[in-house]
Amino acid sequence: MSQINYSEKIPNNVDLANDRTLQRALEHWQPHFLQWWHEMGPSDFEAADVYLRTAVSVDAQGWAQYGAVHMPDYRWGIFLADRVASRKIGFGDRMGQPVWQQVPGEYRSTLRRLIVTQGDTEPASVEQQRLLGHSCPSLYDLRNLFQVNVEEGRHLWAMVYLLHAHFGRDGREEAEELLARHSGDADKPRILSTFNEPVSDWLSFFCFTYFTDRDGKYQLKSLAESAFDPLSRTCRFMLTEEAHHMFVGETGIGRVVKRTLEVMQELGSDDPAKIRAHGAVDLPLLQKYLNFWCSSSLDLFGNEISSNSAANFANGLKGRPDEDQYEDHVLRGKIFKLEIPEGAQEVPMLNALNEVMRESYLKDCEIGLKRWNRAIERAGHAFRLSLPSAHFRRSIGAWMGKPVDPQGNVVSKELYEKNLHAWIPSAADRAFVHSLMQKVIEPGRIAGWVAPPERGINNLPVEYEYVKLH
Ligand SMILES: [Fe+2]
Ligand SMILES: [Fe+2]
Repeated sequence: MSQINYSEKIPNNVDLANDRTLQRALEHWQPHFLQWWHEMGPSDFEAADVYLRTAVSVDAQGWAQYGAVHMPDYRWGIFLADRVASRKIGFGDRMGQPVWQQVPGEYRSTLRRLIVTQGDTEPASVEQQRLLGHSCPSLYDLRNLFQVNVEEGRHLWAMVYLLHAHFGRDGREEAEELLARHSGDADKPRILSTFNEPVSDWLSFFCFTYFTDRDGKYQLKSLAESAFDPLSRTCRFMLTEEAHHMFVGETGIGRVVKRTLEVMQELGSDDPAKIRAHGAVDLPLLQKYLNFWCSSSLDLFGNEISSNSAANFANGLKGRPDEDQYEDHVLRGKIFKLEIPEGAQEVPMLNALNEVMRESYLKDCEIGLKRWNRAIERAGHAFRLSLPSAHFRRSIGAWMGKPVDPQGNVVSKELYEKNLHAWIPSAADRAFVHSLMQKVIEPGRIAGWVAPPERGINNLPVEYEYVKLH
């Protein structure tokens, strides 16, 4: 098993010390990254002691160590999952051939694009969440936000390592560009639209970590199948960290539901106006946030029909998440039934892989919904949270711009425009949610709109001082 070398400037398990050119190039990029973190990372918390986990090994048992860290001193490093001996390509037309340790010339630009697109989302989310610390509902939540932030920073390192190690000068230029684009920037925005949406309140943050980080999980899973072995190994270790991000989303929304149910019980009412007056998030409002972030995240999977994803699969660059679960790994001659506005259509499965991925993502999204709805049912309420139809509010693909309601019915343009503010958060809804976002920083105290977590981090009590502010 490869140990992480901590005595070096850049912690790593890729034997960086024996590749002086690469090491120098990355050590040249490192201060640029730190400058970016200083300017675009969590604002105003650089002096705080944050109880963070840091990767110390890629061993499944005990890969992380916990302790108080100043975020700018976090040991961002390069960690690849261990090499699988004589690993073979698991899908596509070259299935069964040995995986690649170097980038084949003919796939150089496609692989670079895949890596840059993934890499771009990592710092983007840190930028989106930059100001959230100022309205944290508790020190526990503040710590979780920062944990997610530093790990997204590390995911950027993961992609930058691949660019530097395997793509020469182009790769180094792309690594600089990853720090030059910024979320929401009018001139140099991030590549994907969801990563330009502001995340300026904690309800959005919980939805983002639930839906958008889960898209990340699906992208990483499909890249973990790649025939380009360094990419596969990098993504496999990123997934270990990613699980916590979705935990933050799922338990965050669950705690909002729990608190709302308590308030409904106290008031003996499900009247949204009364619940809001009591400082909690009514369930229809939460539903609007789910509609917004789910539909935005669904766009990240791209066009339903895509010859690029067909080629990426056939060539072994990008598989399906959990490729093992399928029987056929080549998909030549297979058909997929696709629903488009004009009706059902049969298309080659290879060309519909974005949709295949979107469907399995939605199944994964359902898991949290079931849990939250059980809590609502147990409290004796008829209301149920749901995922919006995959055709709702799409800005890419066959359903782009089509007037579809969250239940999936095609409606008139007028009705759609009139009702949109009832389906996704209106300006007034957002203003109300913002009004709830008051900073709570006494150890153990939690804001009134969200229930306390069931347990603390790493077996510590909930009231532990997870962030020591100075
Ligand atoms: Fe990430
Ligand atoms: Fe993440």
